[in-house]
Amino acid sequence: MVAQIPGGEDAFWSRPDRLAGLETPCFVFDPARILAAYQRLKTALGTPLIVSIKANPNPDVLARCVHEFADGVEVASIGELNVVIGRAPGPKFVASPALDEALVLAAASCRAHIVVDSRAQADLLIGLRPRLRTPPALLIRVNAGALLAGQTSGLKADHFGVEPAEAVALAQALQAADFKVIGLHVFAGSGAFARTAPFIAQAMQALAERVSEALGQPLSILNLGGGFDTSWEDDPTLMAAYCGSLAPLRRHFTVVHESGRAVFEPGGTFVTRVVSTKALGGRWIAVCDGGMAQAFRLAQTETFIKNRRAPIVVPAGPSAPPSDRPVSFVGNSCNPADIIGAAEGMPPPRAGDVVLFDRLGAYHTYTPTAFLNLRNAKKYLVS
Ligand SMILES: Cc1ncc(COP(=O)(O)O)c(C=O)c1O
Repeated sequence: MVAQIPGGEDAFWSRPDRLAGLETPCFVFDPARILAAYQRLKTALGTPLIVSIKANPNPDVLARCVHEFADGVEVASIGELNVVIGRAPGPKFVASPALDEALVLAAASCRAHIVVDSRAQADLLIGLRPRLRTPPALLIRVNAGALLAGQTSGLKADHFGVEPAEAVALAQALQAADFKVIGLHVFAGSGAFARTAPFIAQAMQALAERVSEALGQPLSILNLGGGFDTSWEDDPTLMAAYCGSLAPLRRHFTVVHESGRAVFEPGGTFVTRVVSTKALGGRWIAVCDGGMAQAFRLAQTETFIKNRRAPIVVPAGPSAPPSDRPVSFVGNSCNPADIIGAAEGMPPPRAGDVVLFDRLGAYHTYTPTAFLNLRNAKKYLVS
């Protein structure tokens, strides 16, 4: 069980007593903000919304949110399945390119559905069928790039799912082996919504009709993925046009979406403290007690053009005049990429300043290694 901090009307960092009690580095998750983000996206879409647990597999966060996640959760490993079993009452969808016998048996034993990623996975399931007293219901994952071949969606190719023609063949083979194929799944990638969504809806309709015809019965679920980034609310026209375009599809199928980032990101804050400072090359360096080892995404190592985040800084002492030097916030590792934030026009940083990066509630477990044996971030929940 993670530690609790009391909630209130204001952000927790506006109360010095709440900040003082935090052991840093830490993440503070606020279930109320997560649930509000979930409801906003679900309402805007007007469809069921499945939650991708990979974005925040913290069991205590899940325990406080799962009553609202009734449309289902998507898990990618036995570890994630173990987090949701006994907690998530809605449907569970297991989707992994590395599905193996253990994951199939675990999924079947807790009545989860399986998203089939390849012919090899279909063969694995067919081979295991005699051992499955209650076979899991299946969806076939279609590769988004192959689905949209020839369309100008600017989609980066990935290795997930199968070609559309193969989806039809796999659905038939699985049905012949006495599995229930209930739907199709596609995920064009995180952040791909604006570029791909309208194309996906159209292409999935055509494919779903082909598969339904081949099976001799209609598919019940079309999971169109999502790829919503956290700024999806900035363009309500795009969302409204997209939802309008779903109408023909929704006449025949239950359309669902799934999301991780847009649900969890707004509900988490990374908190670290400045441990020492120095002036170097015309800027201030504020060395923090946490960095890329605990909040890897802040270092933006996977981004070509780095747009450093400006943290909220709660000064340790009385306010001071702004400095004309910019400040680089760096983490506690010896990796030169460990730069977690930048700010201009702030007072010189001081040891003890509290540095907060809000909207960092998703993918906090995404970290490359346990390099340097640095301390893990502590986790708190706003109650
Ligand atoms: C199949 C699938 N669904 C959903 C997600 C969640 O993506 P996001 O957190 O960007 O919504 C991912 C992310 O990798 C994914 O691979």
